[in-house]
Amino acid sequence: MARILLGVTGGIAAYKSLEFVRLATAREHAVRVIQTPASTRFVGRASFEALTGAPTLVGDHDADPLRGAFPGEQIDAHDPITHLALAAKADLFLIAPASANTIAKLAHGFADSLLTSSALAARCPVVLAPAMNNLMYEHPATQSNIARLESRGVQVITPAVGRLASRDEHGIGRLPEPQQLLEACEQRLSAARGLFDGLRVLVTAGGTREPIDDVRFIGNRSSGKMGLALAQAALARGAEVTLIEANVALASPAGLRVIHAPTAAEMQRACEEGLPRCEVLLMAAAVADFRPKARFDGKIKKQQLPGLTLDLEPTPDILARLAGARQPRQTIVGFAAEHGERALALAQQKLQTKELDAIVVNDISKPGIGFESDANEVTIITSSWQQAVAKASKRSVAERILDAVARLRSEGEASR
Ligand SMILES: Cc1cc2nc3c(=O)[nH]c(=O)nc-3n(C[C@H](O)[C@H](O)[C@H](O)COP(=O)(O)O)c2cc1C
Repeated sequence: MARILLGVTGGIAAYKSLEFVRLATAREHAVRVIQTPASTRFVGRASFEALTGAPTLVGDHDADPLRGAFPGEQIDAHDPITHLALAAKADLFLIAPASANTIAKLAHGFADSLLTSSALAARCPVVLAPAMNNLMYEHPATQSNIARLESRGVQVITPAVGRLASRDEHGIGRLPEPQQLLEACEQRLSAARGLFDGLRVLVTAGGTREPIDDVRFIGNRSSGKMGLALAQAALARGAEVTLIEANVALASPAGLRVIHAPTAAEMQRACEEGLPRCEVLLMAAAVADFRPKARFDGKIKKQQLPGLTLDLEPTPDILARLAGARQPRQTIVGFAAEHGERALALAQQKLQTKELDAIVVNDISKPGIGFESDANEVTIITSSWQQAVAKASKRSVAERILDAVARLRSEGEASR
């Protein structure tokens, strides 16, 4: 049971927020509602009041008869500043539907209403469910505002595709069903509740380089952004994070232990040393499958050789070895970049043969995601369930991967 602060903004889908409140209170969550003035033209505050059993607030100077308390809580003798009190008490702040206008304000830190001031003061997880016409949603301004919010750790629920409010219109922009919103909130709440607190998480990032001579190498296109995003997200959830990075040109976030492992052999050594000291291993680095059998000393001169044939040998399968050496209660997640329609089937095979707890696969044939990009679109596969994560910033995808780890670990606890 949690305290959910619900922000409702001015959009057609505001009627769905009523159903959200009904479902959330049926699950015994205590809900308070803040509406923007525009939203009251779509749904009246009385309906929310009836369903939450608490006053709905709209104006930033409205007196709150509950003085910031949630339903079922004692009312404080002191009358606090409403937006600060509600934000401080909430376990989660859901803004659904989130209009293009409010998203823009939040992205730029506006505090011109009770809802936006509360969002700025909130330190609990903030979940945003945009809902609008597809043209508004797809506009670069909205997309960049969403990306900005995601980069600050706000969880954005991708709208559904389907019939839109105006006649004969179809596209992305529908508010997901209230039940899905509630599930997203509950997942976020359980992830935020200490599951990662003090958990030792080992993350690998980047791409290994296998030397040919002192100058040249065989490498790959991994930038390390996905691994860094995972490290950042785990750190924000209170984990103790070690990052093993291979040739990452980006600055790593403060507060984590960084080990440099530029080649597959060094990566293997660092992972084998780190494995006994972690509960979660996230293998996001792209490790070379082959390396030159011999390394030339110095620099091979073009004039010295008529041509060059490299003899390659396979590198050890680090992930399979680590999975084989795992201790009980360790969670191992592999990553696979696969190409084309067979991507999921190939990842499924890897999951089984390498005995992983989960594999995160992206289809590298899709444009604008994966290597070097700031966005990703993945499917998380476990032996008992599968979750598609729509295209979003790598930070946001990292949050969903950590939610999946939390789910795996709590399912593991439950089955023990
Ligand atoms: C009939 C009607 C429907 C609207 N539907 C949406 C919508 O679904 N999503 C959206 O972002 N804006 C929608 N708008 C525009 C917003 O209501 C408008 O931008 C308003 O300023 C939002 O204010 P708020 O963000 O403070 O709630 C709609 C406007 C009208 C008149």
